[in-house]
Amino acid sequence: MTEQWMPPIYRDGDVVAILDQRLLPHREVFLRCTTLKQVVNAIKTMAIRGAPAIGVAGAMALALGAKTILAAETQTFRRKFVRMCEQVRSARPTANNLAWAVERVYSVVVENPQGTVAELRKLIQEKADELLREDVATNLKIGSWGSRVIPHGARVLTYCNAGALATADYGTALGVIRAAFASDPTIQVFSCETRPFLQGARLTSYELMRAGIPVTLITDNAAGSLMQHKRIDIVVVGADRIAANGDTANKIGTYMLAVLAKTHDIPFYVAAPRSTIDPSLPDGSEIPIEQRDPREVTHFQGKPVAPKGVDALNPAFDVTPNKYITGIITEVGILAKPYGKAIRKALEE
Ligand code: MRU
Repeated sequence: MTEQWMPPIYRDGDVVAILDQRLLPHREVFLRCTTLKQVVNAIKTMAIRGAPAIGVAGAMALALGAKTILAAETQTFRRKFVRMCEQVRSARPTANNLAWAVERVYSVVVENPQGTVAELRKLIQEKADELLREDVATNLKIGSWGSRVIPHGARVLTYCNAGALATADYGTALGVIRAAFASDPTIQVFSCETRPFLQGARLTSYELMRAGIPVTLITDNAAGSLMQHKRIDIVVVGADRIAANGDTANKIGTYMLAVLAKTHDIPFYVAAPRSTIDPSLPDGSEIPIEQRDPREVTHFQGKPVAPKGVDALNPAFDVTPNKYITGIITEVGILAKPYGKAIRKALEE
């Protein structure tokens, strides 16, 4: 990171500062949130996005919310806090990390049934701070494991933004790239622009340029041709939810890349923390897929790019079946097939 880099989310006393990613790459503006509602709104409107980042934001939202609950008794506090947890959990449906973080924060209340309201508020804040610190440490480990699979001088294709901006810092897929670049400055990255929200164009290329990592932006449509002409050596992407068998939900379009990679015999890796794994889902068929406003497809920066009134679909994620995935890079190692067994073991560690 360059010296001026500020992580995309941090706490400043009673304020949760969130880098407004909707304005990137042109403007770096931090939203200074003081209420749960403001943070939930930042998640819903994609001011902050990326599975681990919204998990951390959700935890911070709960810490802010806990401070506003008017209750003298623990029972009343707990009842109101449960409602807040639901509000935060439902802000975005696909990323497992959000529900996971809410559960982790709520566990503080469950584990301290005798705690006073003041004690619980303090413990909730401490847990949110811990989740933020833990996420960075986790990403550094993912980077360290993942850098081992990046060949010398590799041309790495990535999708969406699974970088520092999508986490508390450092990133998952981009963390792998950062770690590899630290020992091999000859690697190069190809970033797909990632229609319709353009996380690749706006965020990944911005983030990699700031880190001094060579990046070439391509249209999503160009990926197949580059693979066909042997210009890509490896694909590394992030994940929003991984089912118990390794099926992986990530940004819409990831599945197409995985199929293409298989066709061209190119390794396809998913980099994600264990908090992205949802062991309650046997496979990817039940992963809830967020449907976003069709205006993101029919319009660009407020201007229509399609005929008025045309029907449009805007699923935000797709599911890549496990057979297309070469390995899942986590903080406890690189999981290999059969993923069911490897995932169970990773979650026990
Ligand atoms: O809709 P977004 O921008 O939140 O989608 C983000 C992604 O799909 C990322 O690849 C995923 O969350 C992993 S981020 C480390």
